[in-house]
Amino acid sequence: MRIIVAPDRDALAHHVADCVQRLVCQSKPASLGIATGATMEGPLSELVHRHQAGALSLADTDVYLLDEYLGLNPGDPHTFANTVRRRLVQATDLSPDSVHAPNPHNPDLDAECADYEKRVRGARIELQLLGIGTNGHIAFNEPGSSFSSTTRVVQLSKQTRDDNAGAFTHGIRVPASAITQGIATILTAAELLLVACGQSKARSVARALEGPVTRSLPASALRLHHNATVVLDPQAAALLTPDHRQPQQAIHETGKDTHE
Ligand code: GLP
Repeated sequence: MRIIVAPDRDALAHHVADCVQRLVCQSKPASLGIATGATMEGPLSELVHRHQAGALSLADTDVYLLDEYLGLNPGDPHTFANTVRRRLVQATDLSPDSVHAPNPHNPDLDAECADYEKRVRGARIELQLLGIGTNGHIAFNEPGSSFSSTTRVVQLSKQTRDDNAGAFTHGIRVPASAITQGIATILTAAELLLVACGQSKARSVARALEGPVTRSLPASALRLHHNATVVLDPQAAALLTPDHRQPQQAIHETGKDTHE
């Protein structure tokens, strides 16, 4: 596992955008897995900026979402699919038909989960962007999720609902449940890039990278992957052991393996 500590959030956003840009230049069509959430705002803005500057096209890219809330109306701006449409489809040349997400309105959710699992595996995701919850979740795999879990309906913890409440406006409450790719699903991607910003993530980041690999801390599963990188700002890296948390003036890979 590689750990990269960016000097600040701008540098972090640039690094994530560089990884996406490298993928979409090399691979046509490119298969990109994306996370939603506040952490991705900077990287997505940087992608839009590069597109507007004529430096980046997402026309040959397929985007797969990690998860989706259950119980919101199809037009609700808080759904992850609508967030991606607003942030990327409306602002770049990413085709609306190239945004793939589980359908939370399918009356047969088990069939929907099985179908999405098949679609994601069939897509052979080349680069999967990930955030991390303050409780160590990835996508909506809450603590206790099996490392062999696949796409399924999950109940959200109070911690996760409280953490995500800030993104909800107009009196809409954070749903109690969601569809999420499983941990095994996520680990099928060729490359994983977990991004974390801010002091609130420092504890879960330190546990994920330096504690035991355990289902109690779902993000620790990344250490089982052969090509995983974690990109942090200094605040999110604050509780790592000193040689892991040194900010890089020019970002480079530390090459540190934290569990062997
Ligand atoms: C959310 C989402 C994840 C996201 C993570 C971090 O609950 N399900 O996909 O990456 O938690 O969110 P944020 O970036 O808003 O802190």
